[in-house]
Amino acid sequence: MTVVGIDKIGFYTPGMYVDMAELATARGEDPNKYLIGIGQSKQAVIPPTQDVVTMAANAAEQILTPALKAKIGMVLFGTESGIDNSKATAVYLAHLLGLPQNTRAIELKQACYGATAGLQLAADYVRVHPQAKVLVIGADIARYGLRTAGEVTQGGGAVAMLVTADPTILALDDVSSYHTEDVMDFWRPTYRTEALVDGKYSTNVYLDFFKTVWTDYQQQTQRSIADFAAFAFHLPFTKMGRKGLRQILPEATPEQQASLTAAFEASQEDNRNVGNLYTGSLYLSFLSLLRHGQLVANDRIGFFSYGSGAEGEFFSGVLQPNFRDGFAEEQLAKQLADRRRVSVADYEQIYTSQLSNNSRDEQLAVGEETATYYLAGRQHEQRQ
Ligand code: CAA
Repeated sequence: MTVVGIDKIGFYTPGMYVDMAELATARGEDPNKYLIGIGQSKQAVIPPTQDVVTMAANAAEQILTPALKAKIGMVLFGTESGIDNSKATAVYLAHLLGLPQNTRAIELKQACYGATAGLQLAADYVRVHPQAKVLVIGADIARYGLRTAGEVTQGGGAVAMLVTADPTILALDDVSSYHTEDVMDFWRPTYRTEALVDGKYSTNVYLDFFKTVWTDYQQQTQRSIADFAAFAFHLPFTKMGRKGLRQILPEATPEQQASLTAAFEASQEDNRNVGNLYTGSLYLSFLSLLRHGQLVANDRIGFFSYGSGAEGEFFSGVLQPNFRDGFAEEQLAKQLADRRRVSVADYEQIYTSQLSNNSRDEQLAVGEETATYYLAGRQHEQRQ
């Protein structure tokens, strides 16, 4: 059977962040609540000049050469921060990247689960069409509102993955376990720009779903925790994944517990400094694990994907010998290190100056933009 999986990963987040200790102080909270209790140190601040399409284009550009672009046969764009109720973000993206027109380009939505749906559909497609190359995106802007309980779990960015046969980074196992249930833990009606959430309930549903799919996966595969070198979690905030891991650690020996905990620390590093990407969070965590962890070829990694509403999936994959060739380490490190810290006052001002939902024409100030792709505004109700 054809080996299929993740060949390359790119990641983009805008060049600004707000410090979580400073935000905690501004909100009258103990900084350790945000730094330790929630587990977030920095939060990406998304300027009006970046939306999910431009962020996805900036992430995809890192992994696509002109020769590769010419071979993309499908674009699957997972997002819950779409920019149009009809037209797919994937169509805008395919145009921006100059992809061939004989490609399929669609958007997938199920809260933070959308990119996992894309990854699994892409993998199944490549199993049937081994020559195919599929671009899978997870891009979002997490917005709960200023001075809400969810504010500390905001963030944003995009992950782009190339799914192919004989992948460079990760061969996906062809078994996974998934679970869907109609749950109102987090949602965003079409008339709202910010999410509604039953925060405590959502964390409980996340943990319940993890238990359900992990148990089912073990029954399907006869694998146990001892078969895994690391677990990557959907990380709306890093404490959430830490709680997930704690649920299953008692199944491991003390030695395994130590190495799985060390791997978790590596997997949360970048998320801690970016915040929630919704669809992209699990895959940023995987990238963080690759960048900061002590993994070696043939290590098996478990993935827990969760999208409120709710859908959970546990799947796994095996690291390939040259996995470090599948991402641009220097570029990623520089991108994160070069970000500019903005004050809480500046973050609040940027947060409230997004492209308006009411105006037909609007020019954005693009003077400070350094990204290759950015949003210039709207003309005749069309994004520029
Ligand atoms: N020092 C250290 N820790 C402290 C502290 C201090 N001074 N003060 C408080 N803490 C700890 C608390 O003990 C608590 O820890 P535990 O969870 O381990 O008990 C933690 O900090 C958080 O404190 P609270 O529960 O009091 O925090 P809160 O009421 O402000 O709400 C939240 C936290 C529910 C996560 C809220 O931020 C929220 O609603 N976020 C959005 C929803 C969300 O992300 N849900 C995740 C599951 S849903 C999902 O995954 C999909 C998605 O992406 C949205």
